[in-house]
Amino acid sequence: MKTNVTTLFLIVLASFSLQAQPGINYDESKVPDYVLPELLVTQKGEMITSVRQWENVRRPELMELFSSQMYGRTPDDAGIKVRYELLTENPAALGGKATSKQVKFIFSNGKKELEALLFLLIPNGSTGKVPVFVGYNFKGNHSTLNDTTILYSKNFALVKEPGHPDWERGCQASRWSYDDIIGRGYAVATMCYHDIFPDRPGLKDYSVVSLFEGYGTGSKAPDEWQAIGAWAWGSSRIVDYLATEPVIDTDKIAIMGHSRQGKAALWAGAQDTRFKVVISNDSGEGGAALSRREYGESIARVSSIQPAWFCRAFNQYRGKEQERPIDQHELIALMAPRAVYVASAVKDQWADPKGEYLGAFYAGPVYQLYGLKGLESDEMPGIHQPIMNDVGYHIREGKHDVTRYDWLRFLDFADQHFGKR
Ligand code: GCU
Repeated sequence: MKTNVTTLFLIVLASFSLQAQPGINYDESKVPDYVLPELLVTQKGEMITSVRQWENVRRPELMELFSSQMYGRTPDDAGIKVRYELLTENPAALGGKATSKQVKFIFSNGKKELEALLFLLIPNGSTGKVPVFVGYNFKGNHSTLNDTTILYSKNFALVKEPGHPDWERGCQASRWSYDDIIGRGYAVATMCYHDIFPDRPGLKDYSVVSLFEGYGTGSKAPDEWQAIGAWAWGSSRIVDYLATEPVIDTDKIAIMGHSRQGKAALWAGAQDTRFKVVISNDSGEGGAALSRREYGESIARVSSIQPAWFCRAFNQYRGKEQERPIDQHELIALMAPRAVYVASAVKDQWADPKGEYLGAFYAGPVYQLYGLKGLESDEMPGIHQPIMNDVGYHIREGKHDVTRYDWLRFLDFADQHFGKR
């Protein structure tokens, strides 16, 4: 009896806190009908029926729309040089199971320099090249593992005052299942996302964006790139570095991003086909979730976050989700024919798990053009029942987070697509 009362109380509390966000819908019965833009119809109204038409006409059209209307245009980076400095190398990392390397990236436009720190773990004793996961961490490389040799990156000090609990080593280790990743024969490369674009208002001068021509001239171009564009660009720079590591198999690079980084991972994967597996975890609005499905976070909310993650043109769709020329299934489809995986969590209603599932589901027709297999039903699978086609998906118990369960599925998915089983 006591349990029932407690459960009831928790349900009431949970629904109160869900409803407490004004203007945010969490009631499935109140999701209005919506019509998605046609993935396989060009802006001129022509049907796409072949891979050739998709690649030559529709895909470039969608890339242009996502650049001009949502994430901003990635500028030409010919003027940006990157140097690498190997700072540490430890063959006894992770209890001897891996070799860690810390590499300083120095980005330069000839006048100004910025630095970022890569933390790389490579499994010991592997014969031949190894596949790799690339992903940003939120709280610094030091947060991903309790290891005193891990260096703090410069930009972390800008965003967290001394003594803040985020300085603690390993404080987000639960989000990085290094033992599993290394144990399954993968390398993993991570960097603090603040190193590329500090995610606090007023710090744009410390972002890579500040190195590009035209920065600081007061331009308010509607398609100017912002934080997500920069994070996506930065993950491609990690790939450039990995290509210099003889032990890394550059045909087997996966990117994994959580939440805002789940949005950025999709945008990185759309632009950089060196990512052969793209994983977007709990990415929600502006990521895998369909914007037209009015549930959880809205464009008005996500586009108001400071510093801006999206380009200014995106703001015109606040409250006008139904008028966008694109929706997120079309972003997911840009990964084809490469493998893409979307993951959700039951208690992450803000991110709209069903909208994330449907975003992945409606990307399917492009996979079918390639003779590949998307998600087969518009009904979500049950909890802990992953689907591992060329488009993959799972929903797990629990909150907005990256857990060991998620990593084990990501590894299964990568194994399948990298031919490891
Ligand atoms: C906020 C934001 C989400 C985002 C999340 C995160 O909740 O509204 O869009 O995904 O932060 O990145 O943790």
